[in-house]
Amino acid sequence: MNSGYWAEGDDAGNVLDMRTPNVARMFDYYLGGKDNLAVDRVAAIKVLTAAPQVPRAARENSDFVTRVIQFLTEEKHVEQFIDIGPGLPTNHNVHDIAHRYHKYARVAYVDHDPVVLAHGRALLARKHPLVTMIDGDLREPDKILADPELERLIDLGQPVALCLTLVLHFIPDRDGPHEIVARLLDRLAPNSYLVISHVTGDDKNPDIITAVTDTYNQATAPLVMRSRAEVRRFFGECAMAPPGVVYLTQWYRYLVAEPVLALAAHYIDYLRHLVIRATVQFSR
Ligand SMILES: C[S@@+](CC[C@H](N)C(=O)[O-])C[C@H]1O[C@@H](n2cnc3c(N)ncnc32)[C@H](O)[C@@H]1O
Repeated sequence: MNSGYWAEGDDAGNVLDMRTPNVARMFDYYLGGKDNLAVDRVAAIKVLTAAPQVPRAARENSDFVTRVIQFLTEEKHVEQFIDIGPGLPTNHNVHDIAHRYHKYARVAYVDHDPVVLAHGRALLARKHPLVTMIDGDLREPDKILADPELERLIDLGQPVALCLTLVLHFIPDRDGPHEIVARLLDRLAPNSYLVISHVTGDDKNPDIITAVTDTYNQATAPLVMRSRAEVRRFFGECAMAPPGVVYLTQWYRYLVAEPVLALAAHYIDYLRHLVIRATVQFSR
């Protein structure tokens, strides 16, 4: 009998489930992308109905990632990156940003979602000898680090930036997210960096949290909001680069464009107002 939904296989024989809202494609929708299906949009709109600030938060995250990669390449001279859970490609992927400051930076993307892998391989890795896309699950850290493709590109004897942006909240407590991160950190060379962005339930209305988590419970991964203290715990004994664990817009490094633009917009509005007034007075 017809199952009533589309399913499509990739080269590796994985079947793409097109009936379940996909967390990567929902995120693409929040960012205004086109790589999403009706099933994703329906779920994303449920989230937006409860939490209309989500697209702004998604853009704040992209802006944070841009600034943190600049900080790591330009100031800390990091040359290699492991980005687990990169999501669907955008126009400012980690390697695009890193290559602005260090054209030989090496980037290994790791994701377990066949949709992300297919898009990533088509758009990113094949064009770049210094970029690769690996099929791996964050819940299997040893397997990720032992992947031959990762070993080919990334020298674990040298500092690495491990990027876990907006992915750890898809790992429920029962899967031991803190132990997973500790395991990954154990394998990294001294002077490596850990970058995390994570959805928090701090300061949020419990009804909003329930509406959002209920929707994600029907999607390809559940969403677990964590407190600032729980997020801080991922860093263990690591020295924290100031300002430490803060809201995305409070991570102040390279945070200059927005206030300047806001100020400019204010003056443009003010001038426009003056011009309109002047025009009105002139025509009288
Ligand atoms: C919201 S997107 C994050 C996008 C990107 N990191 C950013 O900051 O813009 C979450 C990504 O995590 C991936 N993901 C979720 N659970 C994962 C797991 N267990 N292992 C690997 N990737 C996972 C999803 O497939 C998706 O690509």
